[in-house]
Amino acid sequence: MTDPRIGSLQQAVPALVLKTAADDLVHYGRDWTRRWAPAPLAIALPGDAGEVQAVVRWARAHGVAIVPSGGRTGLSGGAVAAHGELVLSLERMRRVLGFDAVDRTLTVQAGITLEATQSAAGEQGLAYPVDFAARGSCSIGGNIATNAGGIRVLRYGNTREWVAGLKLVTGHGDLLDLNRGLVKNSSGYDLRHLVIGSEGTLGVVVEATLRLADPPPETSVMLLALPSFESLMQVFAELRSRLELEAFEFFTARALHHVLAGGAQAPFAERHPFYVLAEFASGGDAREVAVLAAFEHCTTRGWVGDGVISQSRDQAAQLWRLREGITESLAPHAPYKHDVSVRVSAMPAFLADAQALLAREYPEFDVVWFGHVGDGNLHINVLRPAQMDADAFAARCGQVTALLAATLQKHGGSISAEHGIGLAKKDYLASTRSPEEIAIMAGIKRVLDPAGIMNPGKIFDAP
Ligand code: MLT
Ligand code: ZN
Repeated sequence: MTDPRIGSLQQAVPALVLKTAADDLVHYGRDWTRRWAPAPLAIALPGDAGEVQAVVRWARAHGVAIVPSGGRTGLSGGAVAAHGELVLSLERMRRVLGFDAVDRTLTVQAGITLEATQSAAGEQGLAYPVDFAARGSCSIGGNIATNAGGIRVLRYGNTREWVAGLKLVTGHGDLLDLNRGLVKNSSGYDLRHLVIGSEGTLGVVVEATLRLADPPPETSVMLLALPSFESLMQVFAELRSRLELEAFEFFTARALHHVLAGGAQAPFAERHPFYVLAEFASGGDAREVAVLAAFEHCTTRGWVGDGVISQSRDQAAQLWRLREGITESLAPHAPYKHDVSVRVSAMPAFLADAQALLAREYPEFDVVWFGHVGDGNLHINVLRPAQMDADAFAARCGQVTALLAATLQKHGGSISAEHGIGLAKKDYLASTRSPEEIAIMAGIKRVLDPAGIMNPGKIFDAP
């Protein structure tokens, strides 16, 4: 029997598209984590900001929790609806609303994908430089909700740097127009930045005005094989001082093993413990000389065991697939994901402690390291041993995460660098944020969402 609240919602917002079929509830009720069983009440697909406001007002009046939903490519359970929540999908709100050549901004509805945003910027001869592998599915609203980072943070920064303004429907159902694209605005608290990274707990982002960058330079990609993490840090310092780096990513032999098992082509004849993928501005004799000099410098010091430099766009894309294909290659193993960060200068010391900890705690597990080493962001994926049941695995990983969180605390790091806290890392928030900070966050939530209907249970349990 259909829940009577669905009829009531349809009556309150007649133009609203509502989905309640069993396969839709599963599809929209989960994200890429696959850890929580989806169980939403229904899926609401508004067509504009006014309808979003009407849905939120209805939900507040009826005490129904809302889970804002973009591409659901998140890796922390932030978009999971497992407790009868109404999923509010922005899927029908994907339009580009305007481009301003003087301001160099693009205004979009929040449901647009990252890839469509990048294309729209490209059509204007400019670029939206935030980038990562989920670009074809993830939405700008979701990127804003998690302050998404990705593969070009080293050069361009996180999503936060590119949001010139946003519109938010609060838990009251009010529509806030925050910062309106201004470059300079010293008129009090910047509420826009409060919303960025708030994981849908303060409201629903419905629109964003994004800054655009100059089109990226011509680039080449270098894949290097390295004997140790120490040499990786030396190579990073060297390349950063000699080249104009666009990205500096790393992965281990285990990560490469899984990508190759998925059909990718091996880059080198021999296996090496670590690999670095560096993308850098190329073209012109001076740059070519600098690249070769940097390569030679690293090789003669024994920091690099082997290396290859792309000679075409196709080759560059092929090399990138070795890094970008890691998440997909691990997905069938339902990995437990860590997404941690420390200051880049603290990386070697943190890594030594973390490696010792994980080797001790997970001696029999396949632990895969990779990430955005130039940003101090490491992804550590732990694969479930075939003979271990899912609950026992989750419990074991939970215990180890508590130890890892303590190690991070010692090194002043964060339990989530770019994926968000969501449900997955909620129990460890206190390793990264002080009790005073968490109390302030809860207080801010009460102001913007007094009924506690916006993505409840994500980041923290509001009192
Ligand atoms: C990536 O950088 O590929 C993703 O953020 C990481 C992951 O799958 O853990
Ligand atoms: Zn990442």
